[in-house]
Amino acid sequence: MAVQINPSILSADFSRLAEEARAVEGADWLHVDVMDNHFVPNLTLGVPVVESLVRATDTPLDCHLMIEDADRWAPQYVEAGAGSVTFHAEAAAAPVRLAREIRAMGARASMALKPATPIEPYEDLLPELDMLLIMTVEPGFGGQAFLDIMLPKIRRTRELISKHGLELWLQVDGGVSASTIERCAEAGADVFVAGSAVYGASDPSQAVRALRTQAREATAHAAWACDH
Ligand code: DX5
Ligand code: ZN
Repeated sequence: MAVQINPSILSADFSRLAEEARAVEGADWLHVDVMDNHFVPNLTLGVPVVESLVRATDTPLDCHLMIEDADRWAPQYVEAGAGSVTFHAEAAAAPVRLAREIRAMGARASMALKPATPIEPYEDLLPELDMLLIMTVEPGFGGQAFLDIMLPKIRRTRELISKHGLELWLQVDGGVSASTIERCAEAGADVFVAGSAVYGASDPSQAVRALRTQAREATAHAAWACDH
């Protein structure tokens, strides 16, 4: 399974978003953090900025919605041109209906879990999703320290994916950097969001390449990947 690196523009210069998007053109996806000041204590951007970003880059957009009432708003991000839309389990009243709606509209459907939300209640929903996002910080801000206590949840999720034979991508987001990405890959993640580790680097494209190399090597030695 291929490793994917998704730089988060939350750590970019918001006055130069088009340029910042193009600075990581070798990336697999551009991770776009949408925050509403209700679900998380921070406010970022919405549909009009996503529409502009779609026009500004060839890299597909991975929209991470940290917003309340996801059932109502998520479809608008598909319409805006996002290739993948992630809603939070804690913010969706009807996650199965919402995932089906996102897929029917032509985007990849993804669901995120905050650190205190367990994966187990969602086991039967996993076939409805294209990606599961495990937050490795409390959502809301870039530049926070990686929560090692999330590694067992990543492992358990990878086991569920294998048990059911799913093609589900497993994304990690928060504090992912050169010093933590190998632990994530070893535990079972295959899609890595990195904000400050990419945009804080002097050469963001080079940072993406270096993270990808590290993740690939760690995956090659990981027990979960060797089983396949
Ligand atoms: C945090 C966001 C992340 C954030 C990650 O709530 O969801 O995507 O940009 O930033 P770093 O990689 O700096 O922790
Ligand atoms: Zn995010």
